[in-house]
Amino acid sequence: MNLDLSTKYLGLKLANPLVCSSSSMCVSLDNIRQMEEAGAAAVVLHSLFEEQLTLESAGLDYSLSAGTESYVESLSYLVELTDYKLGPDGYLEHIRKAKQSVGIPIIASLNGATRGGWLNYAQSIQQAGADALELNLYHIPTDTSIRGADVEEQYLDVVRDVRSHVTIPIAVKLSPFFTSMAHMARESVTAGADALVLFNRFYQPDFDLENLDVVPRLHLSSSHELLLRLHWVAILYGNVAADLAVTGGVHSAADVIKSMMAGAKVAMMASVLFQHGIGYLTTIRDDMVRWMMDREYNSVRQMQGNMSLLASANPAAFERGNYMQTLRSHVRRR
Ligand SMILES: Cc1cc2nc3c(=O)[nH]c(=O)nc-3n(C[C@H](O)[C@H](O)[C@H](O)COP(=O)(O)O)c2cc1C
Repeated sequence: MNLDLSTKYLGLKLANPLVCSSSSMCVSLDNIRQMEEAGAAAVVLHSLFEEQLTLESAGLDYSLSAGTESYVESLSYLVELTDYKLGPDGYLEHIRKAKQSVGIPIIASLNGATRGGWLNYAQSIQQAGADALELNLYHIPTDTSIRGADVEEQYLDVVRDVRSHVTIPIAVKLSPFFTSMAHMARESVTAGADALVLFNRFYQPDFDLENLDVVPRLHLSSSHELLLRLHWVAILYGNVAADLAVTGGVHSAADVIKSMMAGAKVAMMASVLFQHGIGYLTTIRDDMVRWMMDREYNSVRQMQGNMSLLASANPAAFERGNYMQTLRSHVRRR
């Protein structure tokens, strides 16, 4: 049987839906080559951060400032950031080298939350040869005087700015913490996103009780985190004019297949590669092929969206109706 695993994401024709999510693993060209060999259809590079670009334009050395207390606090999630060692110029060089090293698309990543000169950098990223740009909107609004709508508008301004700087496709990586997720998704697309990447993981700092200190803590994900992503991809599929990507909790072929059925074009992975190594991508792809053949699927396209809200015979499963049922179905067993 001729099995077609191909998918289209951000206008790029991909051999399969397995994409390496943005992480410190992508700092190494060797890793990127291994990702391609193991079957990744595209790679999202680690992020270049607004803070890095802002510091550079202020004439400060990022690698020096990154070690300071206040910096680490404001960037608690970026446990490995100081190890990245790639400043803005190094990042552009990395894109060029990655493009020379592999045949699969290279998606660059910018990470920030406010408008400003740092966004001009999107242009340089395009010129360096990135096939697309992922924009990670990562911000924790702690100011009690700022309304949710204002935070959303600030994000959308960033998307609009980036859109005005580049012609390559843009993916926007969102967090799930919006009161009206569906509306924010639609507005992001109106602002210029060609794809939505669901969802960013927020990294909560932990308390060190010995030193009474707040310390960054990065836990790798488990498949359990996939459910939130499946839920929202299934809801948004067909309702926003953008490709959807899952990131967060994809650890197995079953997780990739579920992501496709919810309506995603690609399933991105980071934690599973840290846990089992890059070669595990091959296992996931082989398991996926076996599953599809056993059930006589011919293509990934055939699966995409077939469990979405639009396709569902039971929309209540995605909405409030099922909440009651879920709670009632949980009975205590002795
Ligand atoms: C060590 C590590 C570094 C990461 N670095 C970045 C980054 O630079 N930019 C970004 O957008 N996401 C980053 N992420 C988040 C991942 O891209 C991904 O969205 C998240 O880990 C959820 O996917 P997973 O469950 O497969 O790990 C990082 C994740 C890990 C574990």
